[in-house]
Amino acid sequence: MRVRNLKNKKDILENSNYFIKNPEKYKGKWNKLFGNKNQINVEIGSGKCKFIYEIASKNPDKNYIGIERIDTVLALGIKEISKLPKLNNLRLINYDAYNVDSIFDKEINTLYLNFSDPWPKKRHAKRRLTNFRFLQKYDIMFSSDRKIIFKTDNKDLFEYSIISLSDYGYKIKDISLDLHSRDDKNNITTEYEKKFSSKGFKIYMLNAVKKYKNID
Ligand SMILES: C[S@@+](CC[C@H](N)C(=O)[O-])C[C@H]1O[C@@H](n2cnc3c(N)ncnc32)[C@H](O)[C@@H]1O
Repeated sequence: MRVRNLKNKKDILENSNYFIKNPEKYKGKWNKLFGNKNQINVEIGSGKCKFIYEIASKNPDKNYIGIERIDTVLALGIKEISKLPKLNNLRLINYDAYNVDSIFDKEINTLYLNFSDPWPKKRHAKRRLTNFRFLQKYDIMFSSDRKIIFKTDNKDLFEYSIISLSDYGYKIKDISLDLHSRDDKNNITTEYEKKFSSKGFKIYMLNAVKKYKNID
């Protein structure tokens, strides 16, 4: 995602109650931060926060954390959602997902990967969020079974991810090659999903689970 620099991004982030400045401090303690024992779900690459805000708003009995690597993108998202009703079950982090093992310790339920950057060149494959280097890092995040819900418009990335997840021991529980043909009222669209589906692109979705007992 390319964006123009935002001069006051630091102020926007640091003045927001959603923003967590030093997420490492909360490793193993996220439920304490939320002040409840509710399930915690995470989106990596949350962009401008449309999806993570909406899912949190529809599920007040669950907690949500959005992780976005680019500070300007996150600040733009925070600017938008700060105009909307305040949510107590949402927190946002400016962090590279490659280091998620520094911020979570067996405490999340489901990981959402929405319209992750495709990195089409083979030599960049290790940057894909479904590359096995990332899947290894995600292991420690989950409290029990590993659950990943992945959506994309990119067929090549989708095929790559099916293979990568399967090779890593995940079982594909649900799959769609045209998610919007399901007319699922519960599907929460992301910013990219809206953009691409309005241009006629099909949306791919998979739901993958790796049982806790299969983990070394
Ligand atoms: C194509 S955008 C999709 C944004 C949003 N999920 C959506 O569907 O509208 C992908 C986002 O993932 C972020 N991203 C890519 N790699 C990341 C990483 N390693 N850690 C955190 N965020 C990352 C990018 O900065 C970008 O904002």
